[in-house]
Amino acid sequence: MCMFSFWKSLLYLNLYGIFLAGARVQDNEKEKEGTDATTGGGVAANRLSSSSGAVQLEPLVVDLTILTKAVDTGAVCLDGSPPGYHLHEGGGVNNHNWIVFLEEGGWCDNEEKCKQRSKTKRGSSKFMAPHEFEGILSNSEHLNPDFFNWNRVFVRYCDGASFSGNASLPADKKSNGLYYRGESIWEAVIAELLSKGMDKVDKALLGGCSAGGLSSILHCDKFKAALPGAKVVKCMSDAGFFVNMPTYKGENKVEDFFRGVVNLQRVGDTLMKECTEEHDPAHCFFPQYLLPHIKTPLYIVNGGYDWWQMDNIIALDPLGEWDACKNDATSCTKDQFAAIQGCRTKLLEAVKPVQDSQKDGMFIDGCFHHCQASRGVFWNGPQAPRLNNKTVSEALGDWYFERLTNTNVAIDCAYPCNPTCGSFTHSPGLKPSFRYWSKA
Ligand SMILES: *[C@@H]1O[C@H](CO)[C@@H](O)[C@H](O)[C@H]1NC(C)=O
Ligand SMILES: *[C@@H]1O[C@H](CO)[C@@H](O)[C@H](O)[C@H]1NC(C)=O
Repeated sequence: MCMFSFWKSLLYLNLYGIFLAGARVQDNEKEKEGTDATTGGGVAANRLSSSSGAVQLEPLVVDLTILTKAVDTGAVCLDGSPPGYHLHEGGGVNNHNWIVFLEEGGWCDNEEKCKQRSKTKRGSSKFMAPHEFEGILSNSEHLNPDFFNWNRVFVRYCDGASFSGNASLPADKKSNGLYYRGESIWEAVIAELLSKGMDKVDKALLGGCSAGGLSSILHCDKFKAALPGAKVVKCMSDAGFFVNMPTYKGENKVEDFFRGVVNLQRVGDTLMKECTEEHDPAHCFFPQYLLPHIKTPLYIVNGGYDWWQMDNIIALDPLGEWDACKNDATSCTKDQFAAIQGCRTKLLEAVKPVQDSQKDGMFIDGCFHHCQASRGVFWNGPQAPRLNNKTVSEALGDWYFERLTNTNVAIDCAYPCNPTCGSFTHSPGLKPSFRYWSKA
């Protein structure tokens, strides 16, 4: 009975936004930056007005700024082109408050993959286009009440190592003409923003989603150090808490993958020294080994069943044995379900230091998604998932502004107990799926 009404409520929610949301994710996957930026806004606006009935919004599309002079300091994308960012200036009382948000987009761990990447927006500013600001970057007071009129920056990701590579320049002969200069990109963008008024910052928040969320953890104390005059500096990582855990077959694939990224792009030097003194550098690319060393307050946003981690870490499955389960959670076997629940358990173990800290906080809902803060429908509003009856927007704001006297730790019950995960656990075929994003 309980299950029946749960699926029914999902079905109901599904009728509203998911076809559009699914189509959108699909676009992002295909690197179609041009179409994405021009048609994406219309999709978002339609979605909002049809689902709530009350809110009508113009999409906010922000121009790209290419940081041409950064090339002089060796801050270049994989293909040697200059990096880029988007800034929407704040106003009013929040004129001196800044959000710096780092773009998502995976990693490349070998030359061949980096070469491919260098021919896309993830590896070259030649393919970047204007970007639509939504979620935590929205300028709508209604949808983004705490940050809508801060200075909001979206930093493009074109290095393939979470803004952390530091291979020497010029790229050596064997590197196929590629540049692994992520850490210089980070430094050049921060220097640029300081020159644009961030030197007079009052409050600041560093954030990012996925590979950008990992980067915000890697750079959290560096961000704080770059803003000595600020009253408040905090960081948030959205779907960036990649856990070092074996696949369901017991293989350490993600560790090998991150070691490949760290070695290829010479990430080792740029990682937290406190961590690399104790651990293998590849481990210090995982948040769980960094947590004890980070001094700046940090907020972790992560789906308890993050689809990327499911698909790429736990259920890495080249033979497709998991396809049925990934496409329709109701057809998972008992063992597969146990592995899925085990993935959440490992995440909760890894974030334990956050739970025990006074300064940090977290929002771990029981949903299947990957990245919530930079996606309007997940961030706030009637369709957004709730945990303790709060959207991630409300929970993160409570932590940032210290509006709560009790706890900043919100952990959801196990799947499928939270009906507000709603449409986001679904494929357009109306099956509860942790892979809807890959289906048309
Ligand atoms: C990057 O590498 C150069 C040359 O090896 C080194 O001098 C510099 O300190 C490194 N940068 C960082 C941030 O580790
Ligand atoms: C949940 O939050 C909504 C919107 O903030 C509020 O209207 C509602 O009363 C809350 N429900 C409960 C049970 O607290």
